[in-house]
Amino acid sequence: MIVLKSLKEIQRMKVACSIVAEVLRVVVESVSVGVTTIELNSIAEKEVSKRKAKPAFRGYSGYPASLCCSLNNQVVHGIPDSRPLQNGDILSLDFGAYYDGFYGDAAVTVPIGKVSGVALKLIAATEKSLQLAVEAALVQNRLSDISSTVQAYIESNGFSVVRDFVGHGIGRNLHESPQIPNYGIPDTGPKLRAGMVLAIEPMVNEKSHEVKVLSDGWTAVTLDGGLSAHFEHTVAITDNGPEILTLV
Ligand code: MF3
Ligand code: CO
Repeated sequence: MIVLKSLKEIQRMKVACSIVAEVLRVVVESVSVGVTTIELNSIAEKEVSKRKAKPAFRGYSGYPASLCCSLNNQVVHGIPDSRPLQNGDILSLDFGAYYDGFYGDAAVTVPIGKVSGVALKLIAATEKSLQLAVEAALVQNRLSDISSTVQAYIESNGFSVVRDFVGHGIGRNLHESPQIPNYGIPDTGPKLRAGMVLAIEPMVNEKSHEVKVLSDGWTAVTLDGGLSAHFEHTVAITDNGPEILTLV
């Protein structure tokens, strides 16, 4: 069952979501060569508690941190560690917060110093695919129109979409129905309705879409060692079009 949110509830979600966006902005501004992802996680925890909100991921199914930090060939759910960031790395940062009964969730991928051309192209294509997916979140469309929009754009750029992880509904729970794959055929699945709030999150690999989870039980990496990028917004569907809630 997809839980619809009232306009008032969406206003409340916007607070949680803007906290997510603010925390991610501070974290991104703190990224540079030599910084560790443990330090970035601490910054995220300090910034979220300053805003009287709770981190959404720490303790979720046993996840051991508040900020997911997925480096280079890591796809999602990377665990912060003490390796200093290096020139040429790309880093995906995924953060969620809980405030006033609701969750917000967002992610970005950033280049560290000077990165390869293909890395920049991968990051740009993934971000653009999220923008196009948001623009497909219209009441006259169906769920798979979001999914197929991501897949078509990404594959036309020569990259592949991850199958093993998906976006999700979000609200009083971090993960709600529906699941939102980043691939599919257009015009299938539930009709999109005003009041749906969706965490749309394309995860895109440079080479094959195949991933595996490391023995830590969390870190998902590309099977072929290629790079991976991830962008995510929490988006409300309204009669006046999609509204991105995870903006500063
Ligand atoms: N944005 C990711 C998701 O929606 C992050 C979850 S990390 C976890 O699945 F630790 F909470 F699982
Ligand atoms: Co998410």
